[in-house]
Amino acid sequence: MQNLIHQLTNILGAKFILLEDQDKSPYLTDWRKRFTGKALAVALPKSSKEVAQIVKLCSEHQVAIVPQGGHTGFCGGATPDNSGNQIILNLKRMNQIIEIDSVNQSITLEAGCILQAAQEKAADHGFLFPLSLGAEGSCMIGGNLATNAGGTNVLRYGNARDLCLGLEVVTAQGEIWNGVKGLRKDNTGYDLRDLFIGSEGTLGIITAAVMKLYPLPISQWTTLVACESLSSTIHLLNLFQKRANSLLTGFEMMTSESLALNEKHFPHMANPIQGNPPFTVLIELSDHESEEHVRQLLETILEEAFTSHIISDAVIAKNLSQANTFWHMREHITLAQAEEGANLKHDITIPLSSLEAFIQETDLLMRSSFPGVRIINFGHLGDGNLHYNIAPPLDRDPRAFNENYEKQIHDLVYAQVERHKGSISAEHGIGQLKLAGLRAHKGEVAHDLMLAVKKALDPKNILNPHKVVSI
Ligand code: FAD
Ligand code: MLT
Ligand code: ZN
Repeated sequence: MQNLIHQLTNILGAKFILLEDQDKSPYLTDWRKRFTGKALAVALPKSSKEVAQIVKLCSEHQVAIVPQGGHTGFCGGATPDNSGNQIILNLKRMNQIIEIDSVNQSITLEAGCILQAAQEKAADHGFLFPLSLGAEGSCMIGGNLATNAGGTNVLRYGNARDLCLGLEVVTAQGEIWNGVKGLRKDNTGYDLRDLFIGSEGTLGIITAAVMKLYPLPISQWTTLVACESLSSTIHLLNLFQKRANSLLTGFEMMTSESLALNEKHFPHMANPIQGNPPFTVLIELSDHESEEHVRQLLETILEEAFTSHIISDAVIAKNLSQANTFWHMREHITLAQAEEGANLKHDITIPLSSLEAFIQETDLLMRSSFPGVRIINFGHLGDGNLHYNIAPPLDRDPRAFNENYEKQIHDLVYAQVERHKGSISAEHGIGQLKLAGLRAHKGEVAHDLMLAVKKALDPKNILNPHKVVSI
């Protein structure tokens, strides 16, 4: 090991290979404080060449590498195990925006670029980089691609995979695959790019990417509406899809229980809609025609929704600052959950046609099996993606409650997900959190194919072992 550390120090310089406990510590625990590990060292490379050299060395020494971006992932994918024998490879120094191509409408960036920096750079050039999520101030493009992140704009622009045109990847053998191309069509055999996207650092290390840009909308209108039932929220979604079509860029659902938790921890984020409705929906329309056009459209659809009794109240944001307040209220639910303490996350997708039945049945089962639990259900309803999170009963110690009931609660929710032909991970990935349940969920054939891919690309199992799949 001393030899490996010596060689890594030669590549990176002593400043960028962290060995002391106090220096490694910030890289060892995830954002949620749900996972903590140990590491031999934290490597901070500045170029793909350095990444390639590190991987080659680790491969020779049979030392596992845990790729890491902003460490905001929810499934423990970027946290090392407890052996103290793994190397964390954090990409934060590789944060350059290499090019904005206005004609091709694309942006080329290094994997350690913070998502918000990419959005801001695109906006400076009159473009929208649509990937958007609560962690955008600290998550990185490489992490977004490795998890195939979703967020609040998927409904209109797709997830990280849909936005990616090309990649540069360092393979498990320490070779650099240069797929940095801004092509919208490329049918030359297997799609290697798609293989690495969503692979959570288990097949290769993403070092750079070309991503799609879109023209900035001229006008955006945001509204909060109240619905008395889940079926109304789905009717409302269908109504907006029909009338606004591609102008619909956001459709987020929040239950009263989620917003109550928000208000408890962030009183200034109280729901502007009075009366504590069972469901509050945040809707955003974006238009390239005119302010007047989109405002009128929004008002017409809301009027129709009122007269058909789909909604019971609505507040339209008066200006950008109020629109931002609505969005902050939505994004703060995750932060409120973190403030409240340990909780159990379920990031699931259900076909919209089964969503109501799923919630009715699961709420009932959950409340009768675990009296007093709080169901913090919110999410990207437009994508059928619920964050069906569970907070322990108020009178129980959260950590102790989770230790006792985590498995049973996950089992209950995931059995319901299977019953309704859904997915146990809509956008957060598998990491170590959902590793054990993946084979049963995917089915043997699909899982064996995944294992075959892992064995073919990383036969020594040095890239993020025991994450996603275990060989
Ligand atoms: P990390 O957490 O560092 O890593 C995640 C995984 O990717 C790990 O397996 C890691 O090994 C791998 N990895 C990281 N970088 C690379 C690389 N360069 N090459 C290969 N593998 C790599 N997620 C959503 O999808 N939608 C949301 O709406 C959303 N909202 C969030 C809100 C908050 C407040 C927080 C804290 C998180 C949220 N997330 C959301 C989860 C998280 O932000 C995303 O999963 C994000 O894409 C992770 O990026 P990261 O840079 O932090 O990756
Ligand atoms: C979000 O959409 O805010 C996060 O992905 C959800 C979560 O915290 O579970
Ligand atoms: Zn989400």
